[in-house]
Amino acid sequence: MRGSSSKTLFRENLAIVGLICCVISLFVYLEAPSPACLTMSTVADEKTEKPIVLLWFWPLGVRFDFQICSSHFNIDDCILTDNRSLYSQAEGVIFYQKEINWHLENMPKEPRPHFQKWIWFNVESPTNTAKIPGLENLFNLTLSYRRDADITVRNEVTIKQTETKEEFVLPKKDKLVCWVVSNSNPATGTSVREKYYTELSQHIKVDVFGAFSGHQLKPEDYYSTLASCKFYLSFENSIHMDYITEKVNGPLVAGAVPVVLGPPRENYEQFLPNNSFIHINDFPDAKGLAENLQRLDKDHEAYMSYFEWRKNYEVTAHLLTMSNEFIHPVCLACDHISKHKEYHVINDLYGWYFSEKLQ
Ligand SMILES: *[C@@H]1O[C@H](CO)[C@@H](O)[C@H](O)[C@H]1NC(C)=O
Ligand SMILES: *[C@@H]1O[C@H](CO)[C@@H](O)[C@H](O)[C@H]1NC(C)=O
Ligand SMILES: *[C@@H]1O[C@H](CO)[C@@H](O)[C@H](O)[C@H]1NC(C)=O
Repeated sequence: MRGSSSKTLFRENLAIVGLICCVISLFVYLEAPSPACLTMSTVADEKTEKPIVLLWFWPLGVRFDFQICSSHFNIDDCILTDNRSLYSQAEGVIFYQKEINWHLENMPKEPRPHFQKWIWFNVESPTNTAKIPGLENLFNLTLSYRRDADITVRNEVTIKQTETKEEFVLPKKDKLVCWVVSNSNPATGTSVREKYYTELSQHIKVDVFGAFSGHQLKPEDYYSTLASCKFYLSFENSIHMDYITEKVNGPLVAGAVPVVLGPPRENYEQFLPNNSFIHINDFPDAKGLAENLQRLDKDHEAYMSYFEWRKNYEVTAHLLTMSNEFIHPVCLACDHISKHKEYHVINDLYGWYFSEKLQ
């Protein structure tokens, strides 16, 4: 938590001054004060200590309350806004890659103030990223799931800070293998995982949820459904370095064993304990994987070894709303802008993003 109580008081006083100004304007002009009156005074009073960070587009049109940065992520060190009138004052401007149009007509027309940083925000893998011309040398910071981005956003396994005597209790299981899948558009790179699933399902029963199956899962049922499965198919839509998404975080949080399809095991092990998941490449083919899952189903002790890591590490549940993948990055960008004042440029954005080593 930032700010002493005296600062808070000071701010409240200023807000009251702002309110009084609105009330006065009400009397003077005999018209209702616009909400801007109060907003303006609040922005002005905080400006001295908090930088303004402007979200230029709502990603995919999904709106959310910026308040969630402080309430959920404890990030409260910038003023987030979507008000483009504040462009010339903004220290950071976030641009969601997918919203930028081909000729950049929907990018700012005014010159960029010398102190302002443009942030390239992308949560899609290279397979699902269009190379829009003209962006190569335009930005100051990258915001992505990649470890080598300036601002990295990921679900993380963290080391337990306190020794907890609490033993992990395995949730009740009534399903063997589950999969929640909503996207089956082959253009997004999903054919690899679908081919694998098709083969796997010939050897083992898989309970499929999501738009793909006609059995849609409500957000409030997501974690409990995953918990009722022994294994969960964490199949990424496309295979790229560091592209390891909430599809793995979900089962780890719920208490199921993720079976991952994505970059090589070594890449997963850079983020997750090596015994917290099963990699499809651990087996020659889908049949071999199915046989192993069936073996683990019968061998309780061997199955429970996949939960050993919980003694020392913990996972954090991710937000389940549609906007979950956008909120956290925007909050992190806010935090970064408030802490980093140094000059920074991105040269050859696509050269970086599209050349990745899969070790
Ligand atoms: C945006 O900011 C401008 C300038 O500070 C202000 O006049 C306007 O009312 C704001 N618009 C909204 C929708 O808050
Ligand atoms: C997993 O990592 C631990 C240490 O972090 C190591 O002792 C162990 O041999 C590894 N297991 C496998 C299967 O790689
Ligand atoms: C941001 O990047 C642009 C384009 O490379 C550059 O001209 C500008 O000086 C940079 N600004 C900051 C504050 O780093």
